[in-house]
Amino acid sequence: METEFEIWKELSYQNSWYNSNKNPEPLKEVTMLKLLEKYSNLLPVTSSTPLITLGEGFTPLIQARKIGEMLGVNLYLKYEGTNPTGSFKDRGMVMAIAKAIENGARSVICASTGNTSASAAAYAAAFDLRAIVVIPAGKIAMGKLAQAMIYGAKVVQINGNFDDCLKLVKKVSDDYPVVLVNSLNPNRIEGQKTASFEIVDVLGDSPDYHFLPVGNAGNITAYWLGYIQYQKEGKAKKLPKMMGFQAEGAAPIVRDHPVKHPETVATAIRIGNPASWKRAIAARDESKGFIGMVSDEEILKAQHLIALKEGIFCEPASAASVAGVIKMAKSGIFNGDETVVATLTGNGLKDPDVILREMDKISTIPNDISAFIKEVGF
Ligand code: F0G
Repeated sequence: METEFEIWKELSYQNSWYNSNKNPEPLKEVTMLKLLEKYSNLLPVTSSTPLITLGEGFTPLIQARKIGEMLGVNLYLKYEGTNPTGSFKDRGMVMAIAKAIENGARSVICASTGNTSASAAAYAAAFDLRAIVVIPAGKIAMGKLAQAMIYGAKVVQINGNFDDCLKLVKKVSDDYPVVLVNSLNPNRIEGQKTASFEIVDVLGDSPDYHFLPVGNAGNITAYWLGYIQYQKEGKAKKLPKMMGFQAEGAAPIVRDHPVKHPETVATAIRIGNPASWKRAIAARDESKGFIGMVSDEEILKAQHLIALKEGIFCEPASAASVAGVIKMAKSGIFNGDETVVATLTGNGLKDPDVILREMDKISTIPNDISAFIKEVGF
């Protein structure tokens, strides 16, 4: 048995290996494949890029048999909630942090509706960078806030929305020596596109349709880039139609103008002026896809359906993708032969408040067997 001290010594050695530069061995604490290594030839990975990892990527593509049958499509869910901080952001963050380290950065900054901040904070903690995260006060899910705090980031809340936060961090990163790790950082997009590679690796080709929630629009941009690149590499024969879904109260792309006061239960996509707006439209148009919107009610219904029918707990924003599939199925766009992938971007455990608020209270009974039998209904 290793003593606690020995474990501590080992861990602090691992965390500082790239700083000391004496022994540039990769970290050892994760014994699985590294995303940056697996797809290194398709990523901005050079011989001086540290192949860091917290175990991101390689997420399951789950056949949603029951929902698929209900809707008459062959539906797969790319469940990103199994990433180390519970969202797809880790794919882009590992690339952005690796490049920041390669370029000698000491600190990183981001604006966030919660998941980016959790991810930035985790990778910064593990690889010895300072993280500063700026969030809209009172508008991020508790689990995500707890993540940013436990990982030791400097958390600043502002009285404003995500768009205000992003404006602020852009200005700060222009004027001060701190690397912006929002999806405006091209390395974030590069890392995130690996999700498309994984899907094609499993299915043997691109799906016919790919559904995604759209907030700041980085992810739809990244997936499209990934599919195009894989087709160029000869790994995929066709390209999917990219289908993005915004929340009705935060749907600037659908409405074709910025939304000053975005509102939705899906706080992760409560964004009124997406940074990658133009690139999302390009992905939509080049793929002959669609960007639509779903109501909060449709989002929450889809979230429950995914849990009840497929046993997967995703956060509300994630369910916007499946709410989109349901909406499109109802409108009759599918003929039944298509392969459809919907990304579930984040883990539902991040945002239990919504569920606890929306669902009936649990009943409390006396500690008595007959009361129990009556309650359970045998
Ligand atoms: N789903 C979840 C769970 C998210 O956290 C986000 C974005 C999206 C979907 C939308 O992705 O912005 O690339 O279009 N969250 C960002 C954040 C904005 O700060 O965590 P997008």
